Amino acid sequence: MMAWTDRHCRYLLRLASVRTKLFTEMITTGALIHGPQERLLRHSPAEHPVAIQLGGSEPDAMARCAAMAETAGFDEVNVNVGCPSPRVQRGAFGACLMKEPDLVADLVSAMTRVVRIPITVKCRLGVDEADDQARLEAFVGAVADAGCETLYLHARKALLKGLSPAQNREVPPLQYDRVYRIRERFPDLTVILNGGITDLAAGRSHLEKVDGLMIGRAAYHQPLFINQLAVAFLGEDPVTPQDLMEGYVAYMRSELAEGTRLADMTRHCLGLFSGMPGARHFRRLLSDHRRLAANDLSLVDEAMDQIVARAA
Ligand SMILES: Cc1cc2nc3c(=O)[nH]c(=O)nc-3n(C[C@H](O)[C@H](O)[C@H](O)COP(=O)(O)O)c2cc1C
Repeated sequence: MMAWTDRHCRYLLRLASVRTKLFTEMITTGALIHGPQERLLRHSPAEHPVAIQLGGSEPDAMARCAAMAETAGFDEVNVNVGCPSPRVQRGAFGACLMKEPDLVADLVSAMTRVVRIPITVKCRLGVDEADDQARLEAFVGAVADAGCETLYLHARKALLKGLSPAQNREVPPLQYDRVYRIRERFPDLTVILNGGITDLAAGRSHLEKVDGLMIGRAAYHQPLFINQLAVAFLGEDPVTPQDLMEGYVAYMRSELAEGTRLADMTRHCLGLFSGMPGARHFRRLLSDHRRLAANDLSLVDEAMDQIVARAA
């Protein structure tokens, strides 16, 4: 999730689940080809399985970036066909590609030609007025024929004019039944449902109709939710927030030694103890930018003491 997630966040989420697939935020072909390539492709071996998400609309550039991602060690390349931001629309990719199934099919086939890892697509139900089920089926059919075997479907349409990206994640209603119908219509396609999943019961009921769940905001705000899902559906072991913190502190220690700033890592664990005694103090201490600037891990110990002290 752009501006929210990064490799540190993925490391923290990996501590919550061994098998859940993690994704990078959307990385544009322009940034990857002309920008800080090493930084954009960097990830820890602990993150696997990890997919990189690319944003772009030129088959050659997407193929070149897919090859870079494969060489860098990513397990999957996902094509963003869901982002509605005005900047992305100006670049003519993201959600506006829902209106161009043939072009998305060209992207997928150009990429599958040059890499062995799976090329997958994340999309919406539609955009603007172009959002009937027949169009969605035509889109899905085109990308499936081009070699996409897994589709991540955000169960709402995007409105390209008049709504901000944040509103586009809230205002258009969720239509889960349309995702279920895609699953029925394309039995060979793996269909993963995304959008608005915040509790285990909802996850369980969706899983009767689709092949998997993709979690965005709830995973970011409450990494433990991913653990709950992994325990329920993947047979993983339960972990406590303290377990996660223990692993994350060890990670932060080694990253600090490499020159990573403490604030860039602590920002991802602010919600870890939500609802527990001391959570507010924990969050407040780890949001103190003056103290974070010292890059001294003892601030994290102090924050943890708040939890222990209040839990006692
Ligand atoms: C801050 C933010 C950034 C996002 N960036 C991306 C992105 O880079 N790529 C993407 O496919 N979706 C992005 N999304 C959308 C989420 O992946 C997801 O589709 C959406 O939030 C609905 O799922 P949820 O209800 O589980 O959060 C972003 C969402 C947020 C809140």
